[in-house]
Amino acid sequence: MRPWFPLMTACLAVLSTGCRQDMYDQPRYEPQEASKFFTDGKSDRPILPSVVHRPDPKTEPRDELYDHYNLGIVDGEPAETFPFPIDRTVLDRGRQRYQIYCTPCHGERGDGQGMIVKRGFSPPPPFYGERPPTGKSPAATIYADLREAPVGHFFEVITKGHGAMYSYASRIGVRDRWSIIAYVRALQLSRYATESELPQQDRDQLSKVSR
Ligand code: HEC
Repeated sequence: MRPWFPLMTACLAVLSTGCRQDMYDQPRYEPQEASKFFTDGKSDRPILPSVVHRPDPKTEPRDELYDHYNLGIVDGEPAETFPFPIDRTVLDRGRQRYQIYCTPCHGERGDGQGMIVKRGFSPPPPFYGERPPTGKSPAATIYADLREAPVGHFFEVITKGHGAMYSYASRIGVRDRWSIIAYVRALQLSRYATESELPQQDRDQLSKVSR
């Protein structure tokens, strides 16, 4: 036996006792394991009623509403309709989220002249009217006027990003994306609404302003 061999073995023995696996071996329950801690005898807690099952697209068939709501797609095409009814509450939420997430580039009115565009960022196209022929926006699009774009197109842009615009999927939840789109639709309408389409209350207000 070589003389250093016992010494090395002793060193290894000391080192190996220093190597503890506390994090790995910490007390825990395996899924579905019984437990005396909760009165129902289970270790896992019941799933909340509001939890929505997300099918695995590879193994489980998705129903139509799943694709409409989560992907903005109906029959393989960008959805033309919203997957849930749009009311005042949705619009108010959409306006608030739009003002947080989209105004820096797209502007309060959706004209594409947000604050950071004024400071040099690529200008996005306006949400209404023809796109200006010049401008740095390079990404290909099929819609010359975004008023013609179906709501599913907006959903895809927010979810995946588009050219110079990055994806907002990690920041804006699915329902909020739809709420924002509803508000963008309102912005688009507002630019072209005629006085006769306004409720009486707003018309009175308008005549006071223009006087
Ligand atoms: C950091 C700046 C920025 C923010 C924030 C931003 N966008 Fe954009 N967006 C752009 C730019 C730039 C383009 C043009 C991209 C291109 O053509 O390369 C664009 C393009 C678009 C388009 C047009 C796509 C097409 O077909 O041409 C839509 C719709 C859109 N954005 C919606 C939104 C919405 C909704 C939000 C808020 C959730 C948002 N964007 C937030 C910069 C931004």
